[in-house]
Amino acid sequence: MSQRLKSDLVTRAASGEQTPTVPVWFMRQAGRSLPEYRAVRKRGSILDTIKDPQLSAEITLQPVRRYGVDAAILYSDIIVPTFAVGFGIEVVEGKGPVATVPFRSEEDLKRLRDLEPEVDTSYVIETIRILVKELDIPLIGFAGAPFTVASYLIEGGPSKTYLKTKSLMRSNPDLWHKLMDRLAKLAISSLKSQIMAGASIFQLFDSWVGVLSPAEYAEMVAPHSNAVFHALAELNVPSIHFGVGTAMLLDQIASSGCTTVGVDDRIGLDYACRITQGKVALQGNLDPANILMGKNIAIDQTKKVLLASACSPGYIFNLGHGVFPESDPQVLKAVVDFVHDQGAAIRKNAQTR
Ligand code: CP3
Repeated sequence: MSQRLKSDLVTRAASGEQTPTVPVWFMRQAGRSLPEYRAVRKRGSILDTIKDPQLSAEITLQPVRRYGVDAAILYSDIIVPTFAVGFGIEVVEGKGPVATVPFRSEEDLKRLRDLEPEVDTSYVIETIRILVKELDIPLIGFAGAPFTVASYLIEGGPSKTYLKTKSLMRSNPDLWHKLMDRLAKLAISSLKSQIMAGASIFQLFDSWVGVLSPAEYAEMVAPHSNAVFHALAELNVPSIHFGVGTAMLLDQIASSGCTTVGVDDRIGLDYACRITQGKVALQGNLDPANILMGKNIAIDQTKKVLLASACSPGYIFNLGHGVFPESDPQVLKAVVDFVHDQGAAIRKNAQTR
């Protein structure tokens, strides 16, 4: 792990430092918005592409070359650990993760044995080893948070209502906690192996947890997500905890043991500062829809995000959620350049006002 980095802005900002240039990366920066991705992506399941370390490393590097972002995020998926232990889950193009036989009962826990990363996901480790040799910026490892992964296992696919998930949680809390405990263990093993292989920061994606109330989050989710951050604390790398629609959960998310909270675009970063009270650095939160509206609007809105970010010394610019596949890479590039050129000055001005 003796990586020599040209820029460690992301890890410094994620540790709470005010950096001389505002670092930026985008959730889903790799993928279908890039013509060079569409050109190399294998036909069929994304999981086959993820199992090819050379190709996955190349896809991880594509947005780094094109945009000059300050971090690479490993090309993989949140369902890789459950897939690798043989739960029976796939990623269907245009849809997302699908489990043919969803999680229903105690019996189904047997399909979630412990992960042995060196054996089960050796291709992920190999991809990271290739990447850290190539990269002079931090590599972000990641995992799905227990709730968000559980929602795919229980629903059997993407959902708008999360009815089956909420129903299992409320009708059989004992089984729910067992499932969440298993999923936290999978995330911990996977993240440990990613960091040991050379990832220098990680993000826990709890994309869909915003459907829960604060009380239910506290009882049913927080102990398990927090266990992930606590188990990784000994490895001493900064960490980002992200979810969508989390305004009412933000105080709990900030107390999870993460160093940085990823904020979505439904609240202002100034509001996020008031809630998190300087306990963590912030990341976010340009509405990804702005990228579809052309350079002028995207840059205008970027300025607003930077102004609102001034309250937080540690700050990483990002979108509020992933890049839409229809996004124009030139608009994303313009946003990166603007954040690098003017971000620090805009924030400084706002801080001294
Ligand atoms: O650039 C990056 O962000 C790195 C790679 C990455 C992927 N998935 C690759 C991928 C990351 C970080 C993820 C995480 C992920 N996967 C999340 C959390 C992030 C979020 O968006 O909230 C979730 C919920 C998933 C589950 C998942 N996998 C979905 C909903 C989809 C989209 C289905 C579709 O086709 O629209 C996937 C497939 C997937 N994972 C793609 C990519 C680039 C789609 C493209 C493809 O199939 O080639």
